[in-house]
Amino acid sequence: MKANTSSAYPSAPAGPGLNAAVERYYDTTLDLYEDLWGEHVHHGFWDVGEQPGNDAERHAATDRLVRELVDFAGIPHGARVLDVGCGIGGPAMYLAGPLGCTVEGVTLSAAQAARATEKAAAAGLADRASFHQRDALDNGYPDASFDAVWAVESLMHIADRPAFFAEAMRLLRPGGVLAIATWSVRDGELTAEEHRLVDQILRHQVMPSFSSLEEHERLAHAAGFTGVAFADWSANVANSWEPGFAQVRELDNGRSMMRDLARDRGVDVLGFFYAGPLMLKGFETGAVTYGAVRATKPVDG
Ligand SMILES: C[S@@+](CC[C@H](N)C(=O)[O-])C[C@H]1O[C@@H](n2cnc3c(N)ncnc32)[C@H](O)[C@@H]1O
Repeated sequence: MKANTSSAYPSAPAGPGLNAAVERYYDTTLDLYEDLWGEHVHHGFWDVGEQPGNDAERHAATDRLVRELVDFAGIPHGARVLDVGCGIGGPAMYLAGPLGCTVEGVTLSAAQAARATEKAAAAGLADRASFHQRDALDNGYPDASFDAVWAVESLMHIADRPAFFAEAMRLLRPGGVLAIATWSVRDGELTAEEHRLVDQILRHQVMPSFSSLEEHERLAHAAGFTGVAFADWSANVANSWEPGFAQVRELDNGRSMMRDLARDRGVDVLGFFYAGPLMLKGFETGAVTYGAVRATKPVDG
């Protein structure tokens, strides 16, 4: 099957420049995300047709996405988990808290790692959750260190996806599970207009490319995983971008606020504000999709 990836704009460069741009993006938007979404830097999950309500319901929906992925991938209670792209530790708090896991989180952003460390200490989870500024593909962990590798909405930032699957295979013990939730694109060719839309999203969100869910499945097989499956959650998460709910409230009075932010933090920070309408359109047209992927390292692998 043809790989369905969309090439990046110059502001989301491949190679070392990409990681630096991702680091800068999350360092400079940490407070914006935390203010709007709380500790979860990812979509919410609703039953299909359910309408998003107030902020408390949004929070419940982002919590729910974590539980849905735990169930879909079968993350066992008490597992040793590597959280790839841990953000400020929202998913890790659930894994280390109610699920009793031991979590190592890695993020490119020093500010995120520091905030996640603070939050784990405040939640009394410092002994089970630790966070580091490290590249997922250059992480320093020994072979077979983890029962689960967990990546919620980080894989879109990693250009070399075959290398990611190979690294997950190396880090898992035999029988360990890989759990991914990711932005993606419809499989097959996109129209020129869809490409333009997807390229705008990539540029504003500092992502090199999207793959289809089918492509993730193929990459997992190619890396030697078994039990590979994906679930298309597009209809469950699209509510996350509903106008008046997802869009940044301050935009109402906010052109000057955006100008000030861009001046103080650099122009890339504005990508935060542009994602909502673009993603909503992407889901409406079906060009943008979202899903979960699970895979198991063979016991004899
Ligand atoms: C959209 S946030 C998701 C955060 C978190 N998983 C959550 O769900 O709240 C993307 C995260 O991926 C991280 N990331 C992107 N590329 C990475 C890489 N190569 N190595 C480590 N982390 C990476 C970013 O630093 C950021 O923490």
